[in-house]
Amino acid sequence: MAERDQTHFGYETVPLSEKQGMVDDVFQSVARRYDLMNDLMSGGLHRAWKDALVTAVNPPRGETPFALLDLAGGTGDIAFRVVEAGGPGTRVTVCDINADMLAVGAERALARGLDDRVTFEQGNAEALDYPDRSFDCVTIAFGIRNVPRIEQALAEAHRVLKFGGRFLCLEFSSVDVPGLDALYELYSFQVIPRIGQAVTGDREAYQYLVESIRKFPKPKAFARMIEQAGFRRVTFTPMTGSVVALHSGWKL
Ligand SMILES: C[S@@+](CC[C@H](N)C(=O)[O-])C[C@H]1O[C@@H](n2cnc3c(N)ncnc32)[C@H](O)[C@@H]1O
Repeated sequence: MAERDQTHFGYETVPLSEKQGMVDDVFQSVARRYDLMNDLMSGGLHRAWKDALVTAVNPPRGETPFALLDLAGGTGDIAFRVVEAGGPGTRVTVCDINADMLAVGAERALARGLDDRVTFEQGNAEALDYPDRSFDCVTIAFGIRNVPRIEQALAEAHRVLKFGGRFLCLEFSSVDVPGLDALYELYSFQVIPRIGQAVTGDREAYQYLVESIRKFPKPKAFARMIEQAGFRRVTFTPMTGSVVALHSGWKL
């Protein structure tokens, strides 16, 4: 099989056409425990990382209309934070390929009384069902490394953004602090799959998670991919010793 028709599912080399189905099985299996697992695995740190993303989104506090598309938005964590930070004009569309993750999110939106400002729609980040230039901002948090054709998803994010709009991507990165890297390695491979097994009953899902982080491009290489999709003024901010990086690009 030609190399271009192959990709990684964690450390496994798989046909490009099969990766999405495998990713979908992972998130279907963990959907009900997904939010609890985020807190357990990151010791609550994912909240600070997501807050940094919301600060960068900077939704208007007043009536000004502001439409955000949160790709691979899962159970709505980013969406809820953005509408809570923004004024009454702020609306978020959560787009995710997985119906189970979206169902958990829709229940949370109802329970929080945010269902009028956050909508959940099933869709593939590689082929979005939205018109050109329809959003003020596009975000994706811990989602892009799960998407089989990253270039297509970046091109789609660019297409649906208005001119002057910002793309923001939060993703795990490569730890580069001596000492922390060994500890992070140990924690990732020895502890996370065990927590995953205990909480969700699915060790494999969390083994995939840690392997997929290692296979994701380094921050500079990913910044280049964002530029190649047409974004300008591309920057990235490493956080927590580069456990996570926040990439930003503008459609100008
Ligand atoms: C690790 S979760 C992140 C959820 C959420 N953004 C957060 O930060 O809590 C990854 C999400 O990516 C979604 N996903 C994977 N492939 C996708 C695709 N091709 N298009 C849209 N969503 C996708 C999964 O269904 C899953 O909900």
